[in-house]
Amino acid sequence: MDLHCFWVGFFLFSGFWAVAFCDQDGFLSLTCGGTTNYTDSLSISWIPDSAYISIGNTTTVDYIDGTSSSGAPVRFFPVSQGRKCYGLPVTNVSSLVLVRAQFVYKNYDSLGKPPSFSVSLGTAIVSTIDLRKNDPWTEEFLWPTGKDAVSFCLHAIADRGTPVISTIEVRPLPQGAYTSGMEDFPNKSLRKSYRINCGYTNGSLRYPLDPYDRIWDVDQSFAPFHVSAGFKTQLSFNFSALKEAPPAAILQTARVLARRDVLTYNFPLDTLADYYIVLYFAGILPVFPSFDILINGDVVQSNYTVRSSQVGTLYFTLRGTKSLNITLKSTSFYPQVNAIEVYEILDIPEEASSTTVSALQVIQQSTGLDLGWQDDPCSPVSWDQIGCEGNIVTSLELPDIYLRSVSAAIGDLLDLKTLDLHNTSLAGEIQNLGSLTRLEKLNLSFNRLTSFGTDLENLVSLQILDLQNNTLQGIVPESLGELEDLHLLNLENNKLQGALPLSLNRESLEIRASGNLCLSFSTLRCNDFSANSSIEIPQVTIFTGKKHTEHNQLAIILGAIGGALLALVIFFSILAFLYMRKKRTEITSTERAVSDMRNWNAARVFTHKEIKAATNNFKEVIGRGSFGSVYFGRLSDGKLVAVKVRFDRSQLGADSFINEVNLLSRIRHQNLVCLEGFCHEAKQQILVYEYLPGGSLADHLYGPNSKKVSLSWVRRLKIAVDAAKGLDYLHNGNEPRIIHRDVKCSNILLDKEMNAKVCDFGLSKQVMQADATHVTTVVKGTAGYLDPEYYSTQQLTEKSDVYSFGVVLLELICGREPLSHSGTPDSFNLVLWAKPYLQAGAYEIVDESLEERFDVQSMKKAALVAIRSVERDASQRPTIAEVLAELKEAYSIQLSYLASHEM
Ligand SMILES: *[C@@H]1O[C@H](CO)[C@@H](O)[C@H](O)[C@H]1NC(C)=O
Ligand SMILES: *[C@@H]1O[C@H](CO)[C@@H](O)[C@H](O)[C@H]1NC(C)=O
Ligand SMILES: *[C@@H]1O[C@H](CO)[C@@H](O)[C@H](O)[C@H]1NC(C)=O
Ligand SMILES: *[C@@H]1O[C@H](CO)[C@@H](O)[C@H](O)[C@H]1NC(C)=O
Ligand SMILES: *[C@@H]1O[C@H](CO)[C@@H](O)[C@H](O)[C@H]1NC(C)=O
Ligand SMILES: *[C@@H]1O[C@H](CO)[C@@H](O)[C@H](O)[C@H]1NC(C)=O
Ligand SMILES: *[C@@H]1O[C@H](CO)[C@@H](O)[C@H](O)[C@H]1NC(C)=O
Ligand SMILES: *[C@@H]1O[C@H](CO)[C@@H](O)[C@H](O)[C@H]1NC(C)=O
Repeated sequence: MDLHCFWVGFFLFSGFWAVAFCDQDGFLSLTCGGTTNYTDSLSISWIPDSAYISIGNTTTVDYIDGTSSSGAPVRFFPVSQGRKCYGLPVTNVSSLVLVRAQFVYKNYDSLGKPPSFSVSLGTAIVSTIDLRKNDPWTEEFLWPTGKDAVSFCLHAIADRGTPVISTIEVRPLPQGAYTSGMEDFPNKSLRKSYRINCGYTNGSLRYPLDPYDRIWDVDQSFAPFHVSAGFKTQLSFNFSALKEAPPAAILQTARVLARRDVLTYNFPLDTLADYYIVLYFAGILPVFPSFDILINGDVVQSNYTVRSSQVGTLYFTLRGTKSLNITLKSTSFYPQVNAIEVYEILDIPEEASSTTVSALQVIQQSTGLDLGWQDDPCSPVSWDQIGCEGNIVTSLELPDIYLRSVSAAIGDLLDLKTLDLHNTSLAGEIQNLGSLTRLEKLNLSFNRLTSFGTDLENLVSLQILDLQNNTLQGIVPESLGELEDLHLLNLENNKLQGALPLSLNRESLEIRASGNLCLSFSTLRCNDFSANSSIEIPQVTIFTGKKHTEHNQLAIILGAIGGALLALVIFFSILAFLYMRKKRTEITSTERAVSDMRNWNAARVFTHKEIKAATNNFKEVIGRGSFGSVYFGRLSDGKLVAVKVRFDRSQLGADSFINEVNLLSRIRHQNLVCLEGFCHEAKQQILVYEYLPGGSLADHLYGPNSKKVSLSWVRRLKIAVDAAKGLDYLHNGNEPRIIHRDVKCSNILLDKEMNAKVCDFGLSKQVMQADATHVTTVVKGTAGYLDPEYYSTQQLTEKSDVYSFGVVLLELICGREPLSHSGTPDSFNLVLWAKPYLQAGAYEIVDESLEERFDVQSMKKAALVAIRSVERDASQRPTIAEVLAELKEAYSIQLSYLASHEM
């Protein structure tokens, strides 16, 4: 700013006054709520504030101050209104500006409730106005702008009324002013506490005496004694040495103590803070007074001398005080001071980085909304959707708006710890988040995301990941397991399938996974549908005191074994229990049970040695069953066998295992794979089954050496009939009734003649923990085959087997797997996809390798029974016996069709 000043010297009562009439370059004087321009008695031009703020209501108050005679305007801000900020322009960015504001209530609203609120300048909350204490209330700040504008905001305080303001003045200050002595306090602003024109009592002095329009208050509180000594000549003072450029009129008076040698100023302070003190001295006396200066009792300057016709300034800072006194203790002549300024030192919070600010601007644009994001995101108060630590944006919450995709700009917010974008219509892949390595909570739930993408693996600090109610497909990526801090993973209500990565299976991590196509906490994978694949579903806790139901397979089995056997079981159970309590090895009880089994004349008991020999030391894996690997074996008598070795985790208690094996070994049916025997040694539970050379139905439908061609419709129907017979026997031909619980193509095996046999039944899809009070069972099933009712009832029934078998029938008809990764989402699930076609008799979805060599009536029968079997409501499904009857009919229709066509 260039100050064009015209210095005029004149004598006023006892002294010489030099007055500068300056232009008001850089002055901004706003009448808040005003409507007209006017010039006051000091020749200062006032304009309405409406160009600098867009909100707030205006009114006038009956308040008469020095300048306006009546009806002074005010602007007030009903609390519901948003950001109450003025944008104040600054003409010279390289220096301080003085910002002065006056707040007047004077009961303008006739409510008699003076409000209290805080005000901020730039990023700093600078004061709290309390109009109950003073009305009007004036605040003055010295602000190091560094920018061409500064925002000045009013912040309502809850239940403390409506913020109101009457004037704002902005005045440039001389460059370099008020920085001396502030080296320990960089980047601060100053709030005026006192500015005293010492020795002067006839009113405040300001513009034009002070070209910077500082208001120098009277020294009246510090009466009784003052001297205003005339000075020699104005020009002999070397003002240029004083950066603050105090007006000559101020320096022309001084407080001088002629009769005592200790002069003290006591300044009450309203806050505990750091303070900045500027003392002005001018040699207006013909003597050279010398004195010590003490602040709060400490000597801060000793033997300071004021020389005639010279001016000087002293600067002091004071840390953490709530009271201030300044004492001048004379060493020669009289203590003397010409002016005093006291400022509270205010922190200016650092602004958020420009990268952050521009990223947030882009994000705001991408929402298509005006979120009111202006100025700094963190200070003075963080934006509604933003959370900060210092000037660092650490959280962003933009739920329930229409975003569609994650803006790339979010990836620039590198310090984010929390990101909440739930219900924002995000679609497609999770993206643009890979750089957020500090992210701890990520909420992308209730969107339409379909794919995990690869970004998540970089989020190494992630603790909570909420992806519920999206449409995520496919498997859960292995890389999620590498997020070591993850303790809550919510995948509910997606379309996920396959085994969860083993690395996620840890105690510190809670996984919510219901409402997906396939869930697994096991080491077994269920994404590989052509292989035997099993899953474990949420645990069911069954209390042993509970009445046995037909769904409790253990109860069924136990009940069926008969009194003597039951007694034995209980005996061994107790034995096992006692052994465990005594911490003896399980082998002891097992061996005992096994040796007893030898006498039961049931299934054959193999030694581990025999098994090793038969399998050539477990050499050839021929499959992976629901509870472990299956090996090819040849017994010493030449018989071929399939040897299943159960995983540790799926092992039953020794007694349960042996009892169940005993039960199963008695089940003999041409369509059920025969259990030859078992081995329970060396902590291993091994089952020996007859070997079926034809492989599984899944192998034939989907295997690498697909023999699809050989599976004609009639052959498929024959297989279906065989399998249904086997299931019918389990459900109805046998006591106890047995629920298979894992019917699927890979559990239907074929012999040389292509007769089908169901395998893997019975051996509990339950894992029991030998706990004194309850049995926890983990039911196994396979994704794509699992009864949808299981999710609500947590129970598997015979109708669950029917559902699974219905899926098998659909596979036979359509020649595709129950779940597929390819194709459109609505073809993803075989049941959902095939049902409408088959219901409509639209057989174009029938496996094309059948080449339409099927009788439509036969196909219709099979299709209808398949559809009925996969009804969502279990009670609408047929029994397996009904299914069998229908399939037999379909089979015979096709046979006669073939006969007629061969003729
Ligand atoms: C800003 O102030 C400095 C010192 O007071 C002065 O040298 C400079 O010319 C001013 N700039 C403007 C644009 O007024
Ligand atoms: C008031 O003053 C401003 C700035 O000096 C000017 O732009 C505006 O036109 C004036 N308004 C009236 C009504 O004179
Ligand atoms: C403030 O102004 C708005 C419209 O400008 C009006 O609806 C509202 O009632 C006013 N509030 C008060 C307290 O006067
Ligand atoms: C003071 O602010 C300037 C610019 O605003 C910045 O470069 C500097 O680092 C800050 N100094 C301190 C000590 O914060
Ligand atoms: C106080 O100042 C006013 C002008 O501001 C003047 O008229 C008056 O005479 C002065 N009073 C004394 C005692 O100097
Ligand atoms: C000045 O302050 C000091 C320290 O706070 C105190 O001990 C002393 O009594 C004060 N003097 C007066 C005159 O208030
Ligand atoms: C104080 O300073 C003056 C001038 O510098 C000197 O004459 C005087 O001896 C000093 N007094 C003391 C006590 O140091
Ligand atoms: C979440 O998904 C479940 C299952 O698809 C659905 O029942 C529920 O309504 C969904 N919730 C919301 C809020 O969309």
